[in-house]
Amino acid sequence: MSEKKRILTGDRTTGKLHLGHYVGSLQNRVRLQDEYESFILLADIQALTTHFEHPELLEHSIYEVAMDNLSVGLDPNKITLVQQSRIPSIGELTVFYSMLVSVNSLRHNPTIKTEAANYGYNDMTYGFLGYPVSQSADITFCKANLVPVGEDQKPHMEMTRKIVRRFNELYGETLVEPDMMLSDCPRLMGLDGNAKMGKSLGNAIYLSDPAEEVRKKVMSAVTDASRIKKDDPGHPDICVVSKYHKVFNAGEYENICESCKKGAIGCVACKKALASALSALLEPFREKRAYYEAHRDEVRDIILTGSEKANKIGNETVKEVKEAMHIYIGD
Ligand code: TRP
Repeated sequence: MSEKKRILTGDRTTGKLHLGHYVGSLQNRVRLQDEYESFILLADIQALTTHFEHPELLEHSIYEVAMDNLSVGLDPNKITLVQQSRIPSIGELTVFYSMLVSVNSLRHNPTIKTEAANYGYNDMTYGFLGYPVSQSADITFCKANLVPVGEDQKPHMEMTRKIVRRFNELYGETLVEPDMMLSDCPRLMGLDGNAKMGKSLGNAIYLSDPAEEVRKKVMSAVTDASRIKKDDPGHPDICVVSKYHKVFNAGEYENICESCKKGAIGCVACKKALASALSALLEPFREKRAYYEAHRDEVRDIILTGSEKANKIGNETVKEVKEAMHIYIGD
């Protein structure tokens, strides 16, 4: 038996992952994979809550998201990749937990509200409204202690903790209350100046983008509009490119800001420096990805084996949950 504490985190399988995902969560996953027994969920059921009318996209995305996780350095011999829809215990726990959650608490969940507005839902489905309950089942089926996620997941973490406390209070100590782990990095802005990097916003740099694509995206970034000539003094404090240097080129960040303020480095040179810093980060990911692209069967096996392992754990948890709720009468 492993003595390690557990991590569970994951991604909706609606498309490839980008730098925002890396900074917000993937980086932490890689850092913690030795210290924790880690489960990475390919959340395909949660993907359906918004993409049920586009099923053609999902199978492909399951592989993309799996490869994104593997290519940033998660070691398949250390971590467990789990496909959500292969874990019946998640569905069972979702139903049990739904008794403990009021419809109003879901309606008032700030992330649900924002997402419903973004997707233009004025009459949202039961599945969409209830996905935070399903996410609580994701986290608790393996009794995870820690969940590395971005800030937008905070309301879902609060709901999970509340469900666990309520369950344990009603039926006896059964579930584990998980902690949330936020990244030290602030949320990554879009290079177009948007507050967020996102697929739907059209401003994402994908982990799988080829070098030339990354360079093009960086070169098209908006910078300080008041700077016309390259030796005009710049204002790095209001420039999104400087924010990226801080995250991805920390060693040269101070220098670049000073040179910019003095008008000693122009925007083009500054962007080129960023593009090469990003290349240094992404190149090893590309190499690993090329391997997995060429060995899709191996990726599939990793997902199937991981899901089988998760199922054993999940079935155990469901049994304990049923016992605690007094609905288990034996095999
Ligand atoms: N909702 C998460 C996101 O959009 C994805 C997710 C699904 C998740 N299940 C999870 C994250 C369980 C952490 C734990 O990014």
